[in-house]
Amino acid sequence: MAHAGFFVAAPPKVDLLEEKLPKDKGTQELIKDIPVLLKPEIKKDAIDYVKTTVNDVRAGKLVDKEGARKVVRTLVEEVMNNYQHTLLNLIDIRHHDEYTFSHSINVCVLAILMGIKKRLEKPELEELGLGGMLHDLGKIRIKHEILNKPDRLTKEEIDTMKQHPTYGYELLCYDQEIGSIPREIAYQHHEQYDGGGYPRGLRGGEIHQYATIAALADVYDALTTDRPYRKRFLPHDAMRVIITDTDSKFSQDSIRLFLEHMSIYPVGSMVRLNSGEVAVVIKSHEKALIRPTLRMILNPRGDYYPEAHEVDLRRDKKRFIIGPVGDDIFLERY
Ligand SMILES: [Fe+2]
Repeated sequence: MAHAGFFVAAPPKVDLLEEKLPKDKGTQELIKDIPVLLKPEIKKDAIDYVKTTVNDVRAGKLVDKEGARKVVRTLVEEVMNNYQHTLLNLIDIRHHDEYTFSHSINVCVLAILMGIKKRLEKPELEELGLGGMLHDLGKIRIKHEILNKPDRLTKEEIDTMKQHPTYGYELLCYDQEIGSIPREIAYQHHEQYDGGGYPRGLRGGEIHQYATIAALADVYDALTTDRPYRKRFLPHDAMRVIITDTDSKFSQDSIRLFLEHMSIYPVGSMVRLNSGEVAVVIKSHEKALIRPTLRMILNPRGDYYPEAHEVDLRRDKKRFIIGPVGDDIFLERY
């Protein structure tokens, strides 16, 4: 048998390891040279832009189109240049009230990533990214108490919440220069393939394919982020949720596109191997998503390797990933 050389270890100190490992200093040392997809200053500028825009629109001003296009163009450039071998550093929520702004940028970046995989050209990527960035703009018309209510929403409150795509569409309609794609993304990002979405209950091919991309990005980012009422899912589990719970909400084609290209072990994920070792993913390979290149961290006994070394699972067939380890280290990169 191909894996006979390794014994599948289940060390008794697994729980302890999983608790301490992601925050461990030794681990941080081993990953500090892995570049991140978005440089912190670029991400900060983008988040600041969204914050200002939301405040402007709330005050009755129009969206600053020039600013929006500039931000999205930079994000498209960054993602196009770096997406293959960098840490997908989406999560950096420190404060709950930052969620909306950061989420907008994450959806924008994830949508751009999927658009690249779909081989869209730069101008289309910019439209898609702009739609991702502004998809929830309509929430500014929803009362703060409803948006941030920690308890279950009442029927009326849910109906109010369901207005936000329409509000977003209306806000973006004031301004013809925004273009139809971002508008439609804002309008349709909660529509579902089976017709069970809102606000209009569109189904199947009636839904703009860019809106479907933004919707998948929206769901994925929401699942992989801590919310006041639940802890985040690991990328691996978020994928499972998308496959099992949302299969009627998206077309099979769009789910396939998402799964084929979003690694279940993105760069920066910590994984456990059949050998009992623990490693961090440092490079994904398009054609072999479950056999990425790893940097080895712990040996089968749970001790640090004295020197960092890399293993490409496409070549090393004795080792394979048995699952993610407790948390994702990219959470600790800020
Ligand atoms: Fe939304």
